[in-house]
Amino acid sequence: MSIPRVNTPAKTGVSRRTFAGVLGGGAATVGLGTLAAPSARAAAPAAPAAGGAASAALPAPSSKGYWDAVRRLFVLDKKVLFMNVGTVGSPPREVIETVDRVHREVAVGAESAYSDFADIRAVAARGFGCDPDELVISHNTTDGMAKIVAGLALREGDEILTTNHEHSGGNVPMALARDRHGVVIKRVALPVGNDQRAEDYVTLFKRAITSRTKVLLFSAPTYKTGTMLPIRMLAGLAQDHGLTTVVDGAHIPGMMAYDFHELGVDFLAGSAAKWQCGPGGTGILYVRNKVLPRHNPNPLPEFWPVVSSGYPAEGGRPARTDGPEESYDIAADLQKVGNGSLAVMAGVGSACEVWDRIGRRRIQRHVLGLSRHLKELVAERWGVKSLYSPKDDPRLVCALTSFAPFRDAGDVHDAKKTERLVSRLKDEYGIVIRTSDFPVIGSSRNHQTVRVSTHLFHQKKDVERVVEALWRLSGEMS
Ligand SMILES: Cc1ncc(COP(=O)(O)O)c(C=O)c1O
Repeated sequence: MSIPRVNTPAKTGVSRRTFAGVLGGGAATVGLGTLAAPSARAAAPAAPAAGGAASAALPAPSSKGYWDAVRRLFVLDKKVLFMNVGTVGSPPREVIETVDRVHREVAVGAESAYSDFADIRAVAARGFGCDPDELVISHNTTDGMAKIVAGLALREGDEILTTNHEHSGGNVPMALARDRHGVVIKRVALPVGNDQRAEDYVTLFKRAITSRTKVLLFSAPTYKTGTMLPIRMLAGLAQDHGLTTVVDGAHIPGMMAYDFHELGVDFLAGSAAKWQCGPGGTGILYVRNKVLPRHNPNPLPEFWPVVSSGYPAEGGRPARTDGPEESYDIAADLQKVGNGSLAVMAGVGSACEVWDRIGRRRIQRHVLGLSRHLKELVAERWGVKSLYSPKDDPRLVCALTSFAPFRDAGDVHDAKKTERLVSRLKDEYGIVIRTSDFPVIGSSRNHQTVRVSTHLFHQKKDVERVVEALWRLSGEMS
């Protein structure tokens, strides 16, 4: 493989031109025109790149072989049906090649990257409906959640209202705030399954708000049951009560085509390595940095970039804006943390470009359609009560499907048997999924389920295959 020269290494940081060089060398179609736009906010969404690796390989979206061609963008082992994207995704070939090439270029030129990666943030922000000064490429969801919670000005007695189905990525920063500052954590118990409507979840949160509540923190979707808590509605509730919203959106980037401004939240931390299929160790962190008259007219919460080498050592920053224009680039302060990785950042940019080229809405329709098919098949075979994911309220669904796989109701508490099922599914059928384990209202013991992820490299036949295999295996094990 020939390694193109990196342009103009910057002594004190990576210049815009340098970035264009590393992104453009082998992937000449990675939206360099828009990268170089003077105002990234004004830049139009990237036009489909003519002749790019992904676009060249893809037929018209309406054609029969379209999703087969999408599947071929990935290097996934053909002998395995991988349906655990909720844990980690798999970067497309184009992303791997970009990371590999830039890594080599960086090694050849011994490049440093003391950068705020403005170009990559501009590419990502376009796909997520926000501005570059609000978009940080973090290390993962956990990193994003830690930076959000540690950066809020929470004091003794302040309450965070959250749920009983949070991930450690959110639970640990909250525990630190509790143990360090005396913050109080209150939890609503989430009902599970198909009997809820979005309004029911809003009512639960509303009833639990007190005069001490300062923050609403929730996962959407929850990783345990794949319940997409209604973000916009909960953000509206929070705004009405003057609360800060923090969303653990680990599964949102790459799965849902959300416009972060429209969501009306203050913070959202997600993964770039799960559904977005970027390089490992990458995340998407959204920090609202201006008043959004239509979507969130509330003042910005006090917030400190606790891990930063961009924040000035003397003089501080101006007050956060009280209008629709940012007073400074808070994302740059969060992004600039010592020497970064040009290769990994170029990989994130490349993954975002692939998604934007296919179309984030098209991807969302596809993955939700497969999940819907899966839920219908589960309801047909096992009964709708076996589903722990919502099915019928479109505001609550996502591409994670969680259900109890055994015929005998008592087995729903048997963690070992559920683990055995998942392990046999892999060994005997070559299908990778995972277990899930969580409290259920009215039950003294946790429930054990299996969780299946449906993504853009899957098709209906894959859903039917996993259902058939689980039906047979769980029957054998009953
Ligand atoms: C809801 C949720 N939050 C946080 C995480 C942690 O994600 P990451 O590995 O991106 O930090 C996960 C991982 O599965 C998750 O499901």
